[in-house]
Amino acid sequence: MKSRVLIITILFLSTLLFAQKQYFKAEKMLETGIYYYPEAWNPDQWDRDLKKIAEMGFEFTHVAEFAWAQIEPTEGVYDFKWLDKVLEIADKYKLKVIMCTPSATPPVWLSRKYPEILLEKPTGETAMHGTREHYSWSSPKYQELTKKVVEAMARHFGNDKRVWGWQIDNEPSHYGTLDYSPSAQASFRVWLKKKYKSIDALNNAWGTAFWSGIYSDFSQIEMPNEGRLISGIASPTSMVDLKRFNADECAAFIGMQCKTLKDFTSKSQFVTTNFMHDHTDVDPWRSKDLDFISYTMYPVAGYSEGVGSQGFRLGDPWRISYTNDFFRSLNGVTGVMELQPGQVNWGKYNPQPYPGAVRSWLWNAFAGGLNFICSYRFRQPLFGGEQFHYGMVGTDGVTELNGGKQYRTFMKEILELRKIYTPNAVMPKEYAVRKTALVYNIDNVWETAIQPQTAQWNEKAHITKYYSSLKSLSVPVDIVGEDCNLSAYKVIVAPAYQMMDNTLLSSWQKYVENGGNLVLSCRTGLKDRNGHFMEASWSARITGLIGAKIAMNDMLDSKIKAKISFNGNIFLWNIWADILEPNTGTETWATYSDQFYAGKAAVVHRKLGKGTVTFIGVDSNDANFEKEVLKKVYETAGIGIQELPEGVILNWRDGFFIANNYSSSNVTLEIPTNANILVGTKELTPAGVLVWK
Ligand code: GAL
Repeated sequence: MKSRVLIITILFLSTLLFAQKQYFKAEKMLETGIYYYPEAWNPDQWDRDLKKIAEMGFEFTHVAEFAWAQIEPTEGVYDFKWLDKVLEIADKYKLKVIMCTPSATPPVWLSRKYPEILLEKPTGETAMHGTREHYSWSSPKYQELTKKVVEAMARHFGNDKRVWGWQIDNEPSHYGTLDYSPSAQASFRVWLKKKYKSIDALNNAWGTAFWSGIYSDFSQIEMPNEGRLISGIASPTSMVDLKRFNADECAAFIGMQCKTLKDFTSKSQFVTTNFMHDHTDVDPWRSKDLDFISYTMYPVAGYSEGVGSQGFRLGDPWRISYTNDFFRSLNGVTGVMELQPGQVNWGKYNPQPYPGAVRSWLWNAFAGGLNFICSYRFRQPLFGGEQFHYGMVGTDGVTELNGGKQYRTFMKEILELRKIYTPNAVMPKEYAVRKTALVYNIDNVWETAIQPQTAQWNEKAHITKYYSSLKSLSVPVDIVGEDCNLSAYKVIVAPAYQMMDNTLLSSWQKYVENGGNLVLSCRTGLKDRNGHFMEASWSARITGLIGAKIAMNDMLDSKIKAKISFNGNIFLWNIWADILEPNTGTETWATYSDQFYAGKAAVVHRKLGKGTVTFIGVDSNDANFEKEVLKKVYETAGIGIQELPEGVILNWRDGFFIANNYSSSNVTLEIPTNANILVGTKELTPAGVLVWK
């Protein structure tokens, strides 16, 4: 058994090292680049612009993701001359190039000649040509035409040493719109047939005996469409399947492009795509054929209160950190393909980021172990749908904006750090021992959104509560799938893991028996993979593991705040409460202190084999409660943690500790007296960064 684990670990590490060695130089740690749209600027300015990009300290540029109309002006006629020129100038200034496939924006000739490629909105309207992502990734015609342009590009640039790697499409997602086109409907039926084989199996899984929903043939099935339902959802399982299908279709479209590129490009060129960091309409983890997955990140666009009065200018402390930990999960390699350069144009309102915030995000991305950061974009556009969006330089094309200056500073700092880079640095023991896995399955996000049971339920927010609690205890976190090697972690947290099966149950059980500490929260284990309850007592699948029965659950109006008592303190909740009845031998850690079940258990903890299981049945109003309980889990397991001031994040990479202050106040960080401070000071201002060795 041990040798199997060893072999798997060695295989994993060698894939990781392979991806890293192949495309990235370890001693550089991280490289920075910038989006450039040559097609939008006078060719006379290309030299000046690329020269300036290099002079600012960028090491690569990124082109062509929206340039299909320029690459293939008429069907089958390709023009690469202008891109060849861009590569020549980029090379003159020693800038590597990320080349992109242009499938996000089909040219108008294509949409007019083949209108069947357009996506159909849930309302039944055909998407209009002229925006982006308005194509149907299920359309065989669109797949064929995309393949052709990708192949032409791959043949032309696939062995060009100036091309570092490839990005497929742009934020593949349809921006959350589900496609109901005839191609998608047909593909959905094929997908279902492949999954269920027989219509009876589908009827069982979808629970079609409810509300007269029985199908006798796959041809009768249409994609469930929430907007057209009259009353309630007949089959929540069909909706989860729809989400799974949509994510698979996206992955297949990306996969088709990836294969086409790999067929014609040199092995030294990587293939990735840039997923939006927090969209759950598609599933980045399904794109395993890519060399790595990357993400796009805009922390300040009027959607996050952050911490304190200036939090809206600093961003949510957990956003970049969580995303790093999530996207690193494939091959251990990732990068941020788009990072906010300053003010943007598409938020509810678009505030100026706090002075220094851009540099702080850059350091936060570095801290997460990323291999590259690419900023969006070099020049502020003069026309088009994103006119108010800042670039590194302003509307005159030459004056560096605030964000541009911060990039310059960051890249100078990175150059200094590279000088003292030591290969194969080992994570300090007292930090490494805290390493925790947060187990994630997107099915739980989809399923709980379909039947939330309380309008306040938000699976991602619940997961973030646990993530932020862990990070504020300075715990390094990996976000992992169920197939991950759990024995590498002393603590595993699976928040609101609603859908599970006995295989997962026994892997968790074994993990605990062998000495692991498992933390589960409310809703976990309620349903099977089809979203059915068990024909057994409530939540029977996990009651043996947690050593308690779940008598019932409760939820309240958002204005009502009920109480929980823990360690002599009172905390508030109103989203979800599992009312627990511990078995003999199971400890009660927290109790409800009001409502008709006052005195009943809210958190239970037990020993099992060499390890422990903690079940947190309540979802509190803020993360303070979860943080306190987690603190006790680590203390009980004898694992030392370090509590950080609110809004401060701490990470380690390549021998360096990096702290970011996202709070609106000055904070002083406690660091070892012998720490060698390389950037910043122990007194961190808002947006302040501290790096030490
Ligand atoms: C991203 C998108 C870019 C650009 C940017 C503006 O989400 O991928 O193409 O639109 O937003 O902030």
